[in-house]
Amino acid sequence: MNAQKLIDTAKALVAGYKGLLAMDESNTTCNKRFASFGIPQTEEARRAYREMIVTTPGLGKCISGAILCDETIRQNKKDGTPFIKAITDEGVIPGIKVDAGAKDMAGHPGERITEGLDGLGARLVEYSHMGVRFAKWRAVIAMGDGIPSRGCVEANAQALARYAALCQEAGLVPVVEPEVLMDGEHTLEQCREVTEEVLRTVFNHLYTQRVMLEGLILKPNMVLPGLTCPKQKTVDEVADATVTCLLRAVPAAVPGIAFLSGGQSGELASARLNAMNVRFKSRLPWGLTFSFARAIQQPSMEIWSGQDANIAAAQHALHHRAKCNVAARRGEYQVSVKSTDNTPLLS
Ligand code: 13P
Repeated sequence: MNAQKLIDTAKALVAGYKGLLAMDESNTTCNKRFASFGIPQTEEARRAYREMIVTTPGLGKCISGAILCDETIRQNKKDGTPFIKAITDEGVIPGIKVDAGAKDMAGHPGERITEGLDGLGARLVEYSHMGVRFAKWRAVIAMGDGIPSRGCVEANAQALARYAALCQEAGLVPVVEPEVLMDGEHTLEQCREVTEEVLRTVFNHLYTQRVMLEGLILKPNMVLPGLTCPKQKTVDEVADATVTCLLRAVPAAVPGIAFLSGGQSGELASARLNAMNVRFKSRLPWGLTFSFARAIQQPSMEIWSGQDANIAAAQHALHHRAKCNVAARRGEYQVSVKSTDNTPLLS
C-alpha cells in the first residue's frame, strides 16, 4: 500500500473549497429519473447526458472529483474521447461506484445490506489501471419502528470497512458512505442518535480492518428530521445537530467529510452546508464539503430533457449549483431558503 499516494488523493478531493460530483446513478435509478422528464431510457441517452455533464465549462473549478458508474467509465464522448480522459483533462479526479447495490437483508424485514465484495479486489485493480483514483460504496440505513437493528448496522459497517481496506490495497481512496435515510416520521434528535451509532460502528470496523483514516473520505447524511416529521427544523438547528454528531463520532485523522444530499432540494442542501461552515469551520478538524448527486444535477437534467438544443442551458444550471456549493464551503452562500422546508426532490 502506498500510504502517501492515498493521503495525497484524499487531501486533493477536499482541497480548495471544491467538492465531489456524484454522477454514478445505476442504470435503473438513472432511467427512473429520465422517465419523469420524458427522456428515453437508453444507453445512448445516459451517455449523452453524462457527456453534457463532463463537458460543462468550468466544471473543474468547482468539482475536485467525479464519481462514475461502471457503464459511464467505459463510455466516450461523441468525438471518441473517453469520459475518463475528458474528466482528467479538466483537472477532476475520476472515481467509481463499486458496490452492487443494497439488497433486502435476510432476517431483517425493512432493512437492506449492500452487496459487492466478491471479486472486488480484481475489479479495483482494473479500475486503477484505467486511471481511477478513488471509489465509493453506499450502505443504506432505514429508520422506523424498531429499526435500524444492531444486526443491520454491524453488517453494513463491516462491509464498508472490508471495501475500504480493499480500496487502499489497490491504491484507491475509499469514499465510505453510510446513509441514514430521510424517509419517516423520526425527529432530528432520533436521526442524530442513529447517525452517531452508525458512524461509531463504522469507525470501529474501519479500525478492526486496519484502514488508514488519513487515506479515506467519509460521505455521511446530514442529521435531519424525517421527511414526514411534523417538527421540521431551521437550517441552523440542522447544522448544529449534524456537526455535534460528527465531532463525537468522526476521528480527527479523517481529512474530509463530503455530504450526500439524500433528497434535499439543491438550495436547502447548500444552505445547510453553508451554515455548518459559517458556524463551525474554525474549530473543525476535517474539511466539510459536498458529494451531491440530486442536489447538483436535478435542475440541469430537467432543462436538458434529452435535447441537444438545451445542452448549454443545462450546463449553465449544473455549473450554477456546483458554484453555490463552493460558496457554501466558504460560508458565503447567499440564497435564503424557507428554513423549515424539507421539500424532497425525486428519489
Ligand atoms: P444524493 O446526493 O442524490 O443523495 O446522491 C449521493 C450519492 O452518491 C448516493 O450514493
